[in-house]
Amino acid sequence: MRTVRELTELRAAVAEWRAAGERVALVPTMGALHAGHMALVEAARRPGTRVVTSIFVNPKQFGAGEDLARYPRREAGDARMLTDAGCDLLWAPAAEVMYPDGFATAVAVAGVSEHFDGAVRPSHFDGVTTVVTKLFNQVAPDVTCFGEKDWQQLQVVRRLVADLDLPIEIVAVPTQREDDGLALSSRNIYLSPDERAAAVALPRAMGVAARAIGRGDEAADALAAARASLTAAGFDVDYVAVADAETLAPDPAAGRPRRLLVAARLGTTRLIDNIAVE
Ligand code: PAF
Repeated sequence: MRTVRELTELRAAVAEWRAAGERVALVPTMGALHAGHMALVEAARRPGTRVVTSIFVNPKQFGAGEDLARYPRREAGDARMLTDAGCDLLWAPAAEVMYPDGFATAVAVAGVSEHFDGAVRPSHFDGVTTVVTKLFNQVAPDVTCFGEKDWQQLQVVRRLVADLDLPIEIVAVPTQREDDGLALSSRNIYLSPDERAAAVALPRAMGVAARAIGRGDEAADALAAARASLTAAGFDVDYVAVADAETLAPDPAAGRPRRLLVAARLGTTRLIDNIAVE
């Protein structure tokens, strides 16, 4: 696997593959890779398709006081994992390559990015959609893989691709979980052993509430119970809510697919998760 840091070199590699009739898949990441990312690479690997994984810790999607400075960076280990997973090229631009002096453009997606993480982290999704648009223009992929773990991000990127007529297929990859149900996340390494033990309350509370709502219990009661059990486990809850699975509207119309979304903090670690309400 090649590691590339300059845009001209990336474009030359992609042009060579295209000239040979190959397709290109992009797996955008911020590094600190785990089995969840490897599932994205696995989903990207198809006959006749080259896989590019990007690693870029995007400062524009972190708010003031968030974990940009301590976000785990371990490119050498990530590169080994990607090589073993069959990735063809690691695109790892420096911040000055992604955002040269004078950079002044932002890409914003309204509506779907407004609630939940969009409300709690006000400039977060503008940062995501700006860098994702840049990555799409840099790599020009036919296919891109995003994890369902960041459900709202996935819907925001779907909206972006549809609205801007980008000829890119989006593959959604199910959340990968530890044996006890905790969703894999690069931020799980922040958890102390006690916090890690308590963290299992999040997928449990989420599952209990989703099943209750799915069988017809009052959503407000089920969500209040989930909030109470998270608080009892030591979480500080940002939101626990049911939304339209596609538009993220907080009051889904009857018959629309629904998603239960949770974000909560354990100490200094913010965890998010989601599940279908069926
Ligand atoms: O999901 C992530 O890791 C990031 O939000 C992404 C899509 C790589 C953009 O920086």
